[in-house]
Amino acid sequence: MVHMGYGETWAKVILMGEHSVVYGYPAVAAPLPSLKMRAWVTPAGLCATSCVGTLKALNYEGSLSGAGDRFGGLECAVKVATEFAGCPGLVFDVVTDSSFPAGRGMGSSAASAGAVIRAVLDACDVRASEQEILHLTNEAEVITHGNPSGLDAVTTCSRDVVTFQSGQIQYMRVDMPAYLVIADSGIAGSTREAVGNVRKADEKNHAYVRSVMDELGEMALASKTDLELGAVNMLGERMNRAHELLSELDVSHPLVDHLVDAARSAGAAGAKMTGGGLGGCLIALAEDADTAQSIKCALLHEGACKAWIRPLGAKSDGRFDDELVDDRRYELDNRPLIAA
Ligand code: PMV
Repeated sequence: MVHMGYGETWAKVILMGEHSVVYGYPAVAAPLPSLKMRAWVTPAGLCATSCVGTLKALNYEGSLSGAGDRFGGLECAVKVATEFAGCPGLVFDVVTDSSFPAGRGMGSSAASAGAVIRAVLDACDVRASEQEILHLTNEAEVITHGNPSGLDAVTTCSRDVVTFQSGQIQYMRVDMPAYLVIADSGIAGSTREAVGNVRKADEKNHAYVRSVMDELGEMALASKTDLELGAVNMLGERMNRAHELLSELDVSHPLVDHLVDAARSAGAAGAKMTGGGLGGCLIALAEDADTAQSIKCALLHEGACKAWIRPLGAKSDGRFDDELVDDRRYELDNRPLIAA
């Protein structure tokens, strides 16, 4: 008997290796398990043409057909999950609720696909391995992004930092005495467009683009070692260089560049854009809690619409435990909730 189902995933940031990871180079990404993506599905009959009845997601509420093609990935997620569950033709009403913004490089599309797939499997009482769920999530990501590396699907359901290369996944427990400040420029970027721009640049100037990717890939591997050794300044320098290279690839944005500079002026050991780019978020590395707080204040002052602090140490002082709160109001109003 099919019943209501629930699934959840969370946000992520890429520490090193966005874009080059699409070409088979290594990347390192950190999950943000407190910033949840939740999905509920309710069975709504049978239909040969559509697997989604009504949809409530982001700021949309209504029939799937009335939403245009912006939810194609989500529709695909329901379709592949019902087929996997052996119930093709089943229709679900779908609700998602996110505590982090979409289109800002935090993995929203992979997170929503992963949450919806888990919800459908739950509704059908079907178990799947993590590997099978990742495979289904990437099918939905193909609809959204065209050519996903698979990194987002893995990191948005991992509790540990992920190193990833061509589908090979390694998990690492990071215990670095440092803090990551994540800030949202408020500008929605398109990962599909950014990935397409890099592809065009690669076709036009292959040798140059590959030399950039070689360097990004080497830095991703070195960053993994930095995280293991707790080498905060080394990691910060690599973040600065990665931002420079990604800007050269034309996937950053003037406001993100400005915020990266502001983070450095406020004491960051390094800062860079994160995710697909053309807007979206940046990340900055802080050596201690006070510096993290100063960076966050500076970023909000300089134009970020929201900022979070994520301790990288397993035994953080607890001071920021409330920062990565499950902030359900985000979608309703875009104001920063934590006063600068
Ligand atoms: O912007 P996001 O959160 O979808 O991250 C995209 C990361 C890329 O490396 C640019 C693309 C990918 O598939 O890995």
